[in-house]
Amino acid sequence: MKTIIINASPRKSWNTAQLLREARKGAESVGAETEYVDLYDLNFTGCRSCLACKRKGGKHPGCAWKDDLSPLIDRILAADALIIGTPIYYGEPTAQLRALMERLVFCVAPYEPGSYFDGKVDVGLIYTMNAPQAYYETSLRPYLDNIERLFTMALHGEVRTYASCDTLQVKDYSQYDMAYFDEAAKRAHRDEQFPTDLAECLKMGEELSGWSRS
Ligand SMILES: Cc1cc2nc3c(=O)[nH]c(=O)nc-3n(C[C@H](O)[C@H](O)[C@H](O)COP(=O)(O)O)c2cc1C
Repeated sequence: MKTIIINASPRKSWNTAQLLREARKGAESVGAETEYVDLYDLNFTGCRSCLACKRKGGKHPGCAWKDDLSPLIDRILAADALIIGTPIYYGEPTAQLRALMERLVFCVAPYEPGSYFDGKVDVGLIYTMNAPQAYYETSLRPYLDNIERLFTMALHGEVRTYASCDTLQVKDYSQYDMAYFDEAAKRAHRDEQFPTDLAECLKMGEELSGWSRS
């Protein structure tokens, strides 16, 4: 049982990373082998539209572009579970995650019925954002549901989503031009809600790497 965990935040120890570390703990607690990747450490771009992945007689499934992402895509396709965490930037996953999605989703799909990928990878998506839960549910979730659909289509597994809302973005708001935020309210929310978010991500790691399937 192999679970790959990808931090698609440029920050290696903030909200997204903390939740992912719990997911990793959860996966390891049920015996999964894990690999943790800080996506921003890799050198890659989005899809270059070389179309090598759709060449008749080519290597399928996989991305032929020679950079740091292609071997990670191979490892994702060989894994049992994939857990990705991303901050929301302007209503979307980060640019690096979007680039990964372009490459991963495109390289398993011919422009005709069927898939080059005959395996199954279960996916957990963890979003972190400034937006409060209600805004996430009404305005962001409908768009982000489309990302769930893409992963289901590409990797054929179960896809689960967890959103950690109204996150603390900096240690000391007084040092930044961030008057839109009420620091006391942010801190109170963090103290009250973030422990639950951590516990939910731990559970996601456990369940997606479920002992019953190992
Ligand atoms: C470039 C940028 C754009 C952002 N855009 C949004 C946004 O559209 N909606 C939102 O709720 N939060 C937005 N945020 C806030 C982050 O999503 C939030 O602070 C997140 O928890 C950061 O994750 P991290 O602590 O793991 O880096 C943005 C942050 C940055 C740096």
